[in-house]
Amino acid sequence: MNPFLINNYISPKYFCNREHETDVLVQNINNQSNTVFFAQRRVGKTALIHHVFHQLNSEKEHTTIYLDIYATQNLKDFTNQLANSIYKAFPENKGIATRFWESIKLLRPVLSINEITGSPEMSLDISQVSQMERSIPQLLHFLEKQKKPVVIAIDEFQQILEYPEKNVEAILRTAIQQLQKVHFVFLGSNRKMIFEIFNNAKRPFYASAKNLYLHKIKKKEYIDFIQTHFEKNNLNIAKNTIELVLDLTKRHTSYTQHLCHEIFALHKNKTTKKTVYNTLHKILSENEVMYFQYRNLLTTAQWKLLKALAKEEKTQKPYNQKFIKKHNLGASTSVKRTLNALLDKELVYYHAKQEDAYYEIQDKFLMRWLQYKK
Ligand SMILES: Nc1ncnc2c1ncn2[C@@H]1O[C@H](COP(=O)(O)OP(=O)(O)O)[C@@H](O)[C@H]1O
Ligand SMILES: [Mg+2]
Repeated sequence: MNPFLINNYISPKYFCNREHETDVLVQNINNQSNTVFFAQRRVGKTALIHHVFHQLNSEKEHTTIYLDIYATQNLKDFTNQLANSIYKAFPENKGIATRFWESIKLLRPVLSINEITGSPEMSLDISQVSQMERSIPQLLHFLEKQKKPVVIAIDEFQQILEYPEKNVEAILRTAIQQLQKVHFVFLGSNRKMIFEIFNNAKRPFYASAKNLYLHKIKKKEYIDFIQTHFEKNNLNIAKNTIELVLDLTKRHTSYTQHLCHEIFALHKNKTTKKTVYNTLHKILSENEVMYFQYRNLLTTAQWKLLKALAKEEKTQKPYNQKFIKKHNLGASTSVKRTLNALLDKELVYYHAKQEDAYYEIQDKFLMRWLQYKK
């Protein structure tokens, strides 16, 4: 089996470190605090929560419920997603499952088979906002009555800001506030939106959760992890070759994992730097069609700025004349507008750390491709 996972979580064996973050999350859960944690996309938020839940599940003191609301577009979708995740968290044919049905009968659940996954899914036959306002607390109330405390992780939580209903935050906050035995972990990938929900004193979720920021995995830890997995399979990779992998992918977890996955798949007795470059180029050429599509979707100014940011890798001052002149980007006011568009499209990410704030391309493979393309 390829030990470098690229889109799921299996077990601690294939998971690199995150000891500190795991401890903080478990501690918050044990102390009945809610946590909000965010990081750039593909750094490992979802994998981390699965890692934490894996640990909690083995300790058997909590029931864990995970829902990803990225695809939801309104409060009804959210309510359904919640109902469905609760339904799945309680094994069928057990007393609890029956009681769950009893308790939500009033919500008129409809059971169906998901055509893609083939697994049963539940949705609620609701259409009015007032019904939803009632059903969310009812669903949570069911959890509150269980013997074991429950932990609910809501992934891509910033999505609630996209719902058309006006009082979503208030509805959720009110429902959550009344619970003693149900605790939450909110995950988000849009810093601005997550800040707006949790750090704005005028909004319902203000100061309702402890913050946790997910940094990139430390260099030494990642080197050890990669080397160990190669060595376990009697494959040789030198430390400075791994450093090249980490540098090419900027230690952005998903891209690092992906490159390692492809290199490992070659099963070479000795992985050289040349192997690393060749593998990266193979990935880039596989993605090329998509990159050309991006180019078609962006304006010329956006594409030009994207290329400039790729070349720089880290850009601290994109409005600085030196940067603008070097890349021939025109007026600084238009650079501002263009940069905002790229941020909105999530092609560019802003690291807001005070001492070291900078802009970079989200997708590290796209960044490398833009650098190599003349
Ligand atoms: N600590 C880790 N060790 C190994 N692989 C990881 C780790 N964290 C994340 N990954 C892998 O990186 C990829 C992206 O992680 P994911 O959790 O989906 O990111 P996010 O939720 O922040 O967008 C996944 O394929 C996951 O398996
Ligand atoms: Mg995720």
